Amino acid sequence: MARILITSGPTRQYLDPVRFLSNASSGRMGAALASAALQWGHEVVIVSGPVSIEYPAAAEVVPVVSTEEMLAQSLRVFGGCDGLIAVAAPCDYRPVVIASQKIRKTGKPLRVEFVETPDVVAVLAATRQQQWIVAFALETEDPRIRALQKMEQKNCDLIVVNGPAAMNSPETSLEVLAPGGAVLGSFAGPKTDVAREVFAIIQQRLIDRGK
Ligand code: C5P
Repeated sequence: MARILITSGPTRQYLDPVRFLSNASSGRMGAALASAALQWGHEVVIVSGPVSIEYPAAAEVVPVVSTEEMLAQSLRVFGGCDGLIAVAAPCDYRPVVIASQKIRKTGKPLRVEFVETPDVVAVLAATRQQQWIVAFALETEDPRIRALQKMEQKNCDLIVVNGPAAMNSPETSLEVLAPGGAVLGSFAGPKTDVAREVFAIIQQRLIDRGK
């Protein structure tokens, strides 16, 4: 049995007390992967941004809001885990200044400066001991090439590449790539079914191999 960390859902980066930058990630693929891992008898900890779906009751859920919080909570949990599945869509940017009061209209353009947030997967990968890491990549062009670059940059063992149609949808279509570019699987359909297929590859290539 393995203990698996899953990062899931979007993050939010607030500009003022009521407005934020985010994306349409629903957390559905994270929930589906958690269910698949639980079915194999594993323990699951989900560090999740704000979502309206329900995660499986048997999973431990750590709710977070921002990318920085997702990183802090994931770092806290990762050392006690055997692997990471990073299916979250963390915001890559945050405003330099978060206004303490609601930003008022002035009739002029509002200029907001953004800086990059930390990359959760890359930071976790830099701390890893024996843990395996699977990342997801959402690409709109040259999906395989870009996903392989990310797998290398983020020091992952496998990468799952999907398109923007996967976001906030009950269905997905994806490929599982190994370092070097071998396509280990290509699946389409409801996220619950696709997650089972993806997890079977993780089980065989990363969990069973580590036994
Ligand atoms: O956004 P991108 O396509 O680079 O995401 C690739 C992988 O990196 C995903 O697994 C995602 O969860 C992860 N990621 C992250 N922290 C970020 C951005 C992405 O962990 N700030």
